[in-house]
Amino acid sequence: MTPKRVIIDTDPGIDDALALILAFASPELSVEAITTVAGNVTVEQAARNACAILDVIDPHPRPPVALGARQPLKRALRTAEHYHGQDGLGNLSRFKTGEGKPRYPDPRQSPVRQDASTLIADLIDSAPNEIVLICIGPLTNVAMAILAAPERMAKVREIVIMGGAIEVPGNVTPMAEFNIYIDPHAAEIAFSSGLPITLVPLDVTEQVILTQEQVEAVVRPIGSRVTQFICDSSERLFGYIRERRGCAAIPLHDPLAVGVVIDQSLVRREPLHVEVETADGPAQGVTIADRCQIRAEWKQPPNLQVCTEVDAGRFVRLFLERVCRQWS
Ligand code: RIB
Ligand code: CA
Repeated sequence: MTPKRVIIDTDPGIDDALALILAFASPELSVEAITTVAGNVTVEQAARNACAILDVIDPHPRPPVALGARQPLKRALRTAEHYHGQDGLGNLSRFKTGEGKPRYPDPRQSPVRQDASTLIADLIDSAPNEIVLICIGPLTNVAMAILAAPERMAKVREIVIMGGAIEVPGNVTPMAEFNIYIDPHAAEIAFSSGLPITLVPLDVTEQVILTQEQVEAVVRPIGSRVTQFICDSSERLFGYIRERRGCAAIPLHDPLAVGVVIDQSLVRREPLHVEVETADGPAQGVTIADRCQIRAEWKQPPNLQVCTEVDAGRFVRLFLERVCRQWS
């Protein structure tokens, strides 16, 4: 089977890191580029983290990492170090080797000079209807690529976006999900672009949970560089979530967006018309889906395929199998 060629647009971020590990552990995918965007952390930190994660995974060939948008199109940037740690990866600098050296030294790789939105449009244009763009951070890079090169972006095979909350509460405000909230204007540009978009919202990502118990029982015993990284990067976050939610369980938001590209049977999709609230105020970043039970001719046509159901158990098993594989 020919692997799907993917670009991953990301703001690593602990769950982004888990998503990248899953992507490189899956023969169904060929990661052609990693583009970074400001979100969980600044874009410089996101690019550094992407390079550090590649040092852990050590894929061959190693895809380029590009720096993207430093801030949302119109809003001020709001990062999430409280959740992901000061470095965005669970504060890895505290981990040392037996000789007292940093377990995670400065990355060997540096980002390429080309900016993210140009790299995205170039790659998509070079391989019409072949590239799947997986977006697991705010959509600023994607919106910039659409605005700058709409005809080239129209050659994309599919855009899979982790974002939004359709019938469940938000995770950054009572109704808004983080990736959409941080750059609602970018999301609205993407959603109204007419491009083939699959949305992976909190409705399904909050159902796919990685528990600290699973990490300790299944992941840590493997003892590989990758599984050690998973244990180290998730340790602080488990404590943070236990304190706030009462249980040490990390939602696999970004890994599920990758999972949907690996095996689309993991989710049920529904064509829906979805808009984004871009105005200031309590509804900023809210994703509004038209689920009125009226005849189609009275509704706005669907603009997204929205994942409304997930086989959560099967995805978590797939995730654990893949990340625990023996890495060459
Ligand atoms: O709401 C979850 C999303 O926001 C994930 O992509 C997480 O990494 C953060 O970026
Ligand atoms: Ca993310």
